[in-house]
Amino acid sequence: MKTKVILSFFLFIIFQSSHSQENTPTDYMSSDFHKSRREALRASMPPNSVAVFFANPIRNRSNDVDFIYHQDPNFYYLSGLKEPHSVLVIYSEDQVEDGKTFNEALYVYERGARYKIYNGPGVGVKGAIEDLGFTNVYPGKAFIEDPIDFSKFEKVMFRKFENDVRQKGWEQPNLYALIEQFKTSINSIPMPEGKELDSDKESAQSVVDNKTLRTLMANLREVKTDEELKLIKKAVEISCVGQIEVMKAMHPGMSETETQGIHEMVFKKYGSEYEGYPSIVGAGNNSCVLHYIDNNKLEAGNDLILMDLGAEYRGYTADVTRTIPASGKFTVEQKLIYDLVYEAQEAGMAAMVIGNDARKVDAAAREVVYKGLLELGITDSLAQGRLYFPHGTSHHIGLDVHDLNNRGAFKENMILTVEPGIYIPDGSPCDEKWWKIGVRIEDDVLITKNGPVNYSALAPRKSEEIEKMMEQESVFNHFHLPDLDSEEGK
Ligand code: GLY
Ligand code: MN
Ligand code: MN
Repeated sequence: MKTKVILSFFLFIIFQSSHSQENTPTDYMSSDFHKSRREALRASMPPNSVAVFFANPIRNRSNDVDFIYHQDPNFYYLSGLKEPHSVLVIYSEDQVEDGKTFNEALYVYERGARYKIYNGPGVGVKGAIEDLGFTNVYPGKAFIEDPIDFSKFEKVMFRKFENDVRQKGWEQPNLYALIEQFKTSINSIPMPEGKELDSDKESAQSVVDNKTLRTLMANLREVKTDEELKLIKKAVEISCVGQIEVMKAMHPGMSETETQGIHEMVFKKYGSEYEGYPSIVGAGNNSCVLHYIDNNKLEAGNDLILMDLGAEYRGYTADVTRTIPASGKFTVEQKLIYDLVYEAQEAGMAAMVIGNDARKVDAAAREVVYKGLLELGITDSLAQGRLYFPHGTSHHIGLDVHDLNNRGAFKENMILTVEPGIYIPDGSPCDEKWWKIGVRIEDDVLITKNGPVNYSALAPRKSEEIEKMMEQESVFNHFHLPDLDSEEGK
């Protein structure tokens, strides 16, 4: 027995020493895509400049447990690498050093033997070359031991550092060490006369620039390629199936937690790796809290339950909200509010055309909501409508749920949400028959030459269609588990 355990342990180590994993998904963005994005960025960079990207930090959850790692979307977009402690350097022109010509360099964490025992082999230099398609790859320590001379460039571009990047632990060099080296390097660039040195503030040195890169990256990321849209569509459709399955399974005795679990089980069933943001599942008064994530009410009762969840699929996230009556039937007041939000969403969707912008979509939806609230006697003036619709209507989605963009006019292949809402919490200054009603309807809509295309049309949106879907039989009606609180149940 003991020999077997030891043997399988060694086999495990041997197996782990190979970087590419067998039997894992193959539909991630291709290395050609990431390469093309680096080329597009390079083409938009000022002459004689360099852009430096750092991987996201690991964030600590408690004691020696970290939150699940998630790569910085810019870093992922340009590299495909999902691991921490890495730096990507992109040069606007070819560099020649020691007879070698290159226009980019990737520095990756090369895992040590002990780290591999716990965490597996990781990508490393070999994987970055073979799987990610880079040619100029170094272990992270090269970034420190053989520092880049940034003083020879006219612009050194990077994104502002967050203040909470403080890492310890056994990985060396970790992100903190890489960033310290970078700061040391750029701080040694000679200062123009009479200027103070501060790499974290607005570019004190004309060479050091932590602003432009945001715009350049937004220019790229706000318009999706066909390859990206395929993954986004999948993420959105998975999220819609989650909504449909919950519509069928929902009953007044269901808790917010279980409702969330059904959505997320559907996500996993389709191979989605994460949720794109913490799932929002709120019944009754909780539906009026915009980003409610406690999700711990034990029974939805006869209230509305607002469900804002997005599967993340191969890095790309959906953002879909449906609001349904837990009983299966809208009350008169619930339906009046729901249908008003639906009309507002229709108006917003109609404005999702090339040349418009998110403000126009918001204005179109807002006008319907404000007028409707006044007509229902919930408000005394149009302006008071803001009290019940306190958020914007539209944002880009992509690698981030609120995706990077330059807030400009809509272009073909941009994808944004349309998500009006009305929220009337307990104690609002209106008849109490409206209280505890919170409704948001959120769809993910592609801008095309032929008008808007709703990627989330699969999930019923009209009040009548929702009620009809809720009449359907659910597989979860047959999903019986033992009652762990009673002896007989076990
Ligand atoms: N799920 C967050 C949002 O709708 O913006
Ligand atoms: Mn949204
Ligand atoms: Mn949402």
